[in-house]
Amino acid sequence: MRDVPLTGVERFFDDNDIIVSKTDLKGRITYANQVFLKIADFREAEVLGEPHSIIRHPDMPRCIFKTLWDTVQAGHEIYAYVVNRTKGGDHYWVYAHVTPSFDAQGRIVSYHSNRRVPDRAILESQIIPLYRQLKAIEDAPASRKDGLAASERAIADLLAEKGLAYDEFVATLAA
Ligand SMILES: Cc1cc2nc3c(=O)[nH]c(=O)nc-3n(C[C@H](O)[C@H](O)[C@H](O)COP(=O)(O)O)c2cc1C
Repeated sequence: MRDVPLTGVERFFDDNDIIVSKTDLKGRITYANQVFLKIADFREAEVLGEPHSIIRHPDMPRCIFKTLWDTVQAGHEIYAYVVNRTKGGDHYWVYAHVTPSFDAQGRIVSYHSNRRVPDRAILESQIIPLYRQLKAIEDAPASRKDGLAASERAIADLLAEKGLAYDEFVATLAA
């Protein structure tokens, strides 16, 4: 899918819709609702067992996904703005709430994401410029590893400057 070029065309979904998917511990998709399949242009059989990177958009900074995984693997929920790509190369922005699910012994057994329509003003004024900046920092070093370390430092510095934890920062934006 990733070799299908991006079109630059944005897609939108309804304010009342929730794009839902669930994964196993490795991040392989075990469930996707109709809203997910419709906006991303996939059939259910094409996504089940696949990682979410089938809808990964190249504009997303890797440090955001690193924060997402570190947070849910530690047993916490996270909110994040994410731009995804469709099978045909269009894109759509979401405001995602990702949570771990636990068994009776308190062990993490799966992950769940509910995505809603993001606030357009926040996207335009804060998120798109921030992600562009993080992506540029990430892409500057020759190695991927150094790039990720640099963008993680940049986001940590930004949060320290604001005196906020990541979730407080995102909640402030959403307020
Ligand atoms: C429940 C859950 C939902 C996710 N949803 C998305 C998503 O909508 N888009 C996305 O690009 N990555 C999503 N991810 C993150 C992916 O697992 C992955 O980290 C990301 O696509 C980057 O992939 P890459 O490291 O292979 O480039 C989700 C992860 C979890 C646990």
